[in-house]
Amino acid sequence: MAEHVLESPPEGAAADWTIPQDWAAYTAEDHETWDILFARQSKQLPGRAAEAFLRGLDVLRLSKPGIPNYDELNERLMRATGWQVVAVPGLVPDDVFFDHLANRRFVAGNFIRRRDQLDYLQEPDVFHDVFGHVPMLADPVFGDYMQAYGQGGLRSLGFGSLDKLARLYWYTVEFGLVREGDGIKLFGSGIVSSHGESLFALDDPSPNRIRFDLERVMRTRYRIDDYQQVYFVIDSFEDLLRQTIETDFAPLYEKLADLPDLGPADLAPGDDLLTRGTQAYATERAGAA
Ligand SMILES: [Fe+2]
Repeated sequence: MAEHVLESPPEGAAADWTIPQDWAAYTAEDHETWDILFARQSKQLPGRAAEAFLRGLDVLRLSKPGIPNYDELNERLMRATGWQVVAVPGLVPDDVFFDHLANRRFVAGNFIRRRDQLDYLQEPDVFHDVFGHVPMLADPVFGDYMQAYGQGGLRSLGFGSLDKLARLYWYTVEFGLVREGDGIKLFGSGIVSSHGESLFALDDPSPNRIRFDLERVMRTRYRIDDYQQVYFVIDSFEDLLRQTIETDFAPLYEKLADLPDLGPADLAPGDDLLTRGTQAYATERAGAA
């Protein structure tokens, strides 16, 4: 999913790009930053996040407060779904990323944001990677989806369409919503790890909320610098997994190559629109920029 990546592992990293987490190197302030963020989000998310996410949060309640030690975390995660978290020095090449996922290893950064970055940080830190992603990896169905995505990625390497596949990851793993009971709940890691976006994605009248459609999602550009202008709502994790496994991506890439991309706020014929957004937030931010 990466743009400015090195071509070979940097010094100190293994051939698969992993590095030790070096848990002992975190400062008291680093641990306190985690605790502040953890307390704030675990208070905000009940009633907002998907049941699977809330259940998975227990995996993060380790014997000590502060940033999870990956060794202890991995024992629990391995017992739950066979997933592991491995530290990497930053962005890794696509093939390395997909290979880790296909083998049920989630690559995570090991730095934590500064205290003046509690509310927003563009690059993923340990809070985003671990608090945002690990609870869903403790869910058996979602764990299988992540692995299927990695396997699909490996098969897609020669097609020149990884930008399209990355959109599937973005609009599900990072910024996905799911129907649950009578409502819509959060599960995307970029949302659940963000204090502001975990309100905005559900409550704000600005963004469009559209029922998930694989082809539609893979045509849709996304923004990395602010809250999303569209969220896609899956019917269930089982359905997402099934579609990912059953779709033959090769002909889909061919079809998508002939279709124009859609902008983040565009609507398209056939959209099952759950909320038509006002785009007021994005318009105001564009005006202020
Ligand atoms: Fe992420």
